[in-house]
Amino acid sequence: GPIVHVLGARPNFVKAAPVIGALRAAGAEQAVVHTGQHYDTRMSEIFFDELGLPEPDVNLGVGSGGHAAQTAALMIGLEREFTSRSPALVIVYGDVNSTIAAALVAAKLHIPVAHVEAGLRSFDMSMPEEVNRRLTDQLSDLCLVTSPEAVGHLADEGVAVSRIHLVGNPMIDTLLANLDAFDTDAVRRDHDLPERYVLATVHRPANVDDPDTAAALVRHLHGVADLADLVIPVHPRGRETLLAAGLDDHDGVHVLEPLGYIDFIAAVRGAAAVVTDSGGLQEETTILGVPCLTVRPNTERPITITHGTNRLVTFEELVPEARKVLESDARKADRRPPLWDGAAGPRIAEVIMEYLGE
Ligand code: UD1
Repeated sequence: GPIVHVLGARPNFVKAAPVIGALRAAGAEQAVVHTGQHYDTRMSEIFFDELGLPEPDVNLGVGSGGHAAQTAALMIGLEREFTSRSPALVIVYGDVNSTIAAALVAAKLHIPVAHVEAGLRSFDMSMPEEVNRRLTDQLSDLCLVTSPEAVGHLADEGVAVSRIHLVGNPMIDTLLANLDAFDTDAVRRDHDLPERYVLATVHRPANVDDPDTAAALVRHLHGVADLADLVIPVHPRGRETLLAAGLDDHDGVHVLEPLGYIDFIAAVRGAAAVVTDSGGLQEETTILGVPCLTVRPNTERPITITHGTNRLVTFEELVPEARKVLESDARKADRRPPLWDGAAGPRIAEVIMEYLGE
């Protein structure tokens, strides 16, 4: 059977593009199963178009729901697909609910699993992503690792070294492959943005689900907007609580719909600084050299702090740290993490083809 890629949520699409391209070049038979976890045009379709991803062979249309309902629906749909397609191997990406659902179903059907972005750990089990990562790694025959410290995490959890492969970061493959397409001036024009701005994204349950927490965060974001214009494309999760707290009701705040990949990274590249709670954006700012303030108590991506431009901040630290960053205009020298070089996709393809004996 084919190599089956299971894709569900926005960050999966960005990571899968170079892997699918490299396996195609290696002559592998492939299929793409879109779970439908993300379904809005701006959260999904636009990424397939821009990244040249193949049309999914099937979309399970699972959609949103509580963790139990969503994960259960994902598993039922995926079991049906895996049973009918008999994959030679299933590839899962990152840490979203589609990832753990696919790994669990494949393992029970005795189908080998490859996990791209294995071994990252925040050591914070209150994050759904940390639960998903840990369990997915236990179920994976191939743990494909983006960052050296992740190898140690896997070894500590009893993962045999023969299953661990440090291959680099395919999200950065996508970033480097599209560098020429990122046009900051075009994004400024299209969205009527000023020359100098801070770009913010927030969607973590811990930051946006509770209305009081979201309102506190909005107050601090307004404080940042008093230093420089604040551009904030709003993820569907958090839209309601952030707007209810008056996010757009402040001078210098530009609330946007979610952007496609090309416009989004173009906006990041042109930003004086980034404020985020995203995982991927900590990595992308590291390569682009844009200062990044991550509004979280921890990160599963510490290499973005040691090698990159990232800094963890509390709500209270956000405005003073933003002031520091904006005043120093500090763009760190290029200290790229090992193997974040644009060739992770081909390395992943090589490990997989060798595993399949081809
Ligand atoms: C998911 C991932 C998170 C990742 C994020 C990237 C899990 C547990 N979390 O979070 O790790 O950082 O994707 O975006 O898998 N919604 C829409 N349209 C969509 C998708 C979602 O309106 O296309 C709304 C729905 O109201 C839904 C909510 O967003 O209830 C949350 O969606 P969900 O897929 O459960 O998780 P995310 O918060 O997007």
